[in-house]
Amino acid sequence: MSGATSLTAANPAAQHPQQAVPHAAADAYLLGGAGREVTLRANEAAWQRLGWLPRVLATPTAVETTCELLGRRWPTPWLAAPMAHLRLAHPDAELALALGSAAQGAGMVLSTQANTPLEIVGQAIAHDQARGPLWFQLYPYGQRDDWLRLAQRAQRAGFEAIVLTVDAPVQWSHPRARAAGFALPADWPQPNLPAPARHGSLDWLLQTALRWDDVAWLRVHCPLPLILKGILHPDDARLACERHLCDALVVSNHGGRVLDGLPPTAAVLPAVLQAVAQRIPVLVDGGLRCAADAAKALALGARAVLVGRPLIQALKQGGAEEVARLWRLWRDELAGTLALLGSKTIADLRASVLYPHVNGSAEG
Ligand code: FNR
Repeated sequence: MSGATSLTAANPAAQHPQQAVPHAAADAYLLGGAGREVTLRANEAAWQRLGWLPRVLATPTAVETTCELLGRRWPTPWLAAPMAHLRLAHPDAELALALGSAAQGAGMVLSTQANTPLEIVGQAIAHDQARGPLWFQLYPYGQRDDWLRLAQRAQRAGFEAIVLTVDAPVQWSHPRARAAGFALPADWPQPNLPAPARHGSLDWLLQTALRWDDVAWLRVHCPLPLILKGILHPDDARLACERHLCDALVVSNHGGRVLDGLPPTAAVLPAVLQAVAQRIPVLVDGGLRCAADAAKALALGARAVLVGRPLIQALKQGGAEEVARLWRLWRDELAGTLALLGSKTIADLRASVLYPHVNGSAEG
């Protein structure tokens, strides 16, 4: 394994009993989706429908999997997506995810709702020369000053960008989690919340929801580059670019966890890319289950991808080591896929190698 970070650093925050929540209930929360899980299934299916139609006898003499983002070159074009409550998957939670990802040059986006203090994650990997990007995901709890203080705290800990999630102003428990009796214990650790968690009424949530003016304010005051996560509509992408509101955006439907019935991200990515017209990098997540899926996103024009549930499965199976093993597999598969597609680099990948309906489905 490459990278300067040891996979075995103990998590000083791991004092809380992991199985305060039964396994079946934890799985229902971690792996489930909103509503009837139509979007959750559609995300995966859409990448699987896309196939390849490359030319032969054009194999490059070498391949490289590096990716340029926010002014730096990184070893791989992927990051662990921000995910709440990873203590449900492994006692070392986000620290294990950070260490396993850094060891294979993958990036990490730490959730506001993480169970590990952001300083511990920063301390563990920020100085690792072989890691990927280290970003902090911001949910706008509290007042504007609270958001700013949290962003400043992340900057001090070595995080390089703020990922502002814009697609989940209102959330409620999923049918699958509800049926399994999922509930967090009252003393569940959430050390990055700047203010008490939002247990307000729907009316209160609606009144305090993030709006474009808030994004504009954060853009001016935030000490780090700002990335919007949860963009699906091309007009929102255009607005963000025209008002210079962010440095990058993530096409995401929150992995089908918020509003069921949203389109799969593979289907809307091309229109968003067209609206953005190369002004800022566009990333994508949702349903990516292997490096070949990621390569399809990159061939469509995404700069990088975020990965969620496969990493939860890896965490559950074996913490940091299993996370590193998964990313290693992805790295090898991406290198092989690039070679078979005749692409020396990710930047050389073109949508022309994609074949739209590999499983014969009539849908686009
Ligand atoms: C998430 N996601 C998420 N997103 C975010 O912006 N902040 C968060 O705290 C969380 N929490 C969270 C918890 C769990 C258990 C999951 C599975 C997901 C969404 C996540 O960042 C990402 O958008 C999706 O997970 C991507 O889809 P896949 O790869 O899981 O299909």
